[in-house]
Amino acid sequence: MLEIWFSQDERKTLKMNALIVYDSQFGNTERIAQRITSTLSEFGQARSVRVGQVHSEELQGVNMLILGCPTQGMRQTPAMQSFITSIPRELLSGLSVACFDTRFRGGFWKFSAAPSMAKQLRTMGVGLLIPPESFFVKSMKKEGPLLAGELERAASWAHVLSEKITAHQLAVKS
Ligand SMILES: Cc1cc2nc3c(=O)[nH]c(=O)nc-3n(C[C@H](O)[C@H](O)[C@H](O)COP(=O)(O)O)c2cc1C
Repeated sequence: MLEIWFSQDERKTLKMNALIVYDSQFGNTERIAQRITSTLSEFGQARSVRVGQVHSEELQGVNMLILGCPTQGMRQTPAMQSFITSIPRELLSGLSVACFDTRFRGGFWKFSAAPSMAKQLRTMGVGLLIPPESFFVKSMKKEGPLLAGELERAASWAHVLSEKITAHQLAVKS
């Protein structure tokens, strides 16, 4: 069980406003994105939107951007890559950013979408708030479903994220 570092009152004064932008072919990444969104909603504002339906102007007022993508060909999808490229640098520099992917489990797959998105962001001058994370689909089936326990792991990851963003915002405020 994760330790809670910050009180609800502390969190409320900081007003987290998270946007989760995801791609998903078979629905697995979407399910993870939804669980991250519902977990973050306990601590502030959070909404998720599919990558093809988001415009970079929607990032106005957002202070936490979470990018989620299925791994395809050991990297992010072209749609996610284009979205990242389209984010204006001046907006991006003010955001806390985190990335996750879904993929097969196993050592054979050396590369995946989340570290690749992190690399793309680094070339744009942006570091991640926490390391990229992977969630796994069952036994090499591209349609999924997700492995048992992955939605719960996504909720835990979102919880850690909410703690990090609170700590980050408190540090910026002081
Ligand atoms: C065209 C294609 C390429 C894929 N390439 C990889 C890969 O390189 N590594 C990996 O671990 N999984 C790979 N997968 C499995 C996907 O990551 C998995 O289907 C995905 O997590 C499902 O997410 P979604 O339901 O959100 O589309 C691939 C799947 C497809 C359809």
